[in-house]
Amino acid sequence: MRGRFFVFEGIDGCGKSTQAELLAAALRKRGLKTAHLREPGGTPVGEAVRKLLLDHGKLDLAPMTEVFLFMASRTQLVCDLLRPALDNGDIVVLDRYYYSTAAYQGAAGKVGIPFVLNLADIAGFPQPDRVFLLDLDPTAALARTGAARDRIEQKGLEYQRHVRAGFLEMAKSDPERFRIVNAAQPANAVAQEILREVERVL
Ligand code: TYD
Repeated sequence: MRGRFFVFEGIDGCGKSTQAELLAAALRKRGLKTAHLREPGGTPVGEAVRKLLLDHGKLDLAPMTEVFLFMASRTQLVCDLLRPALDNGDIVVLDRYYYSTAAYQGAAGKVGIPFVLNLADIAGFPQPDRVFLLDLDPTAALARTGAARDRIEQKGLEYQRHVRAGFLEMAKSDPERFRIVNAAQPANAVAQEILREVERVL
């Protein structure tokens, strides 16, 4: 049987990486075989493509170029790790997926959300059982410390607002798959809410 598949999404600094880790740990504690993946996921091709993306400032990539690079890196993750884990019946917890490309490059970068979602569809990417959208106002995210703070400052609050709006638009048009979680709550309350929903799916 195909394994269950959960995705975490949200703007920079929303706390999704922490929540993905908490969920993976909670599932493993229950003895459930769980793969916690994040892009580029350690695939050599993914790492190489990511390096191009990180040199972004120097290269001045068009948003459409970024779309194809993120999708290329992700394709390798899907082929090498994600699909084999699902085929094996494992639970997959994934930190960011093509919804990030749709929100960042699609909505904020003006490529368009449908373009990215259609690409994912054509590529035949596995669809998750649930997407947890950790929703947070960019100013609240900025108030948090850490690496995400630099990124928010670099791209600007306005950009993050467009990203957030893009995520919310997708959540509203696919309510069966998306769960909007208020990420302004304390981390343990967020984790509880997510775990309850995961238990419903399992
Ligand atoms: P990532 O490496 O996933 O780090 P984090 O999970 O800590 O945010 O993302 C790095 C940056 O790249 C982040 O600002 C989000 C952005 N991003 C895109 O613009 N498009 C994408 O498809 C992905 C996956 C990330």
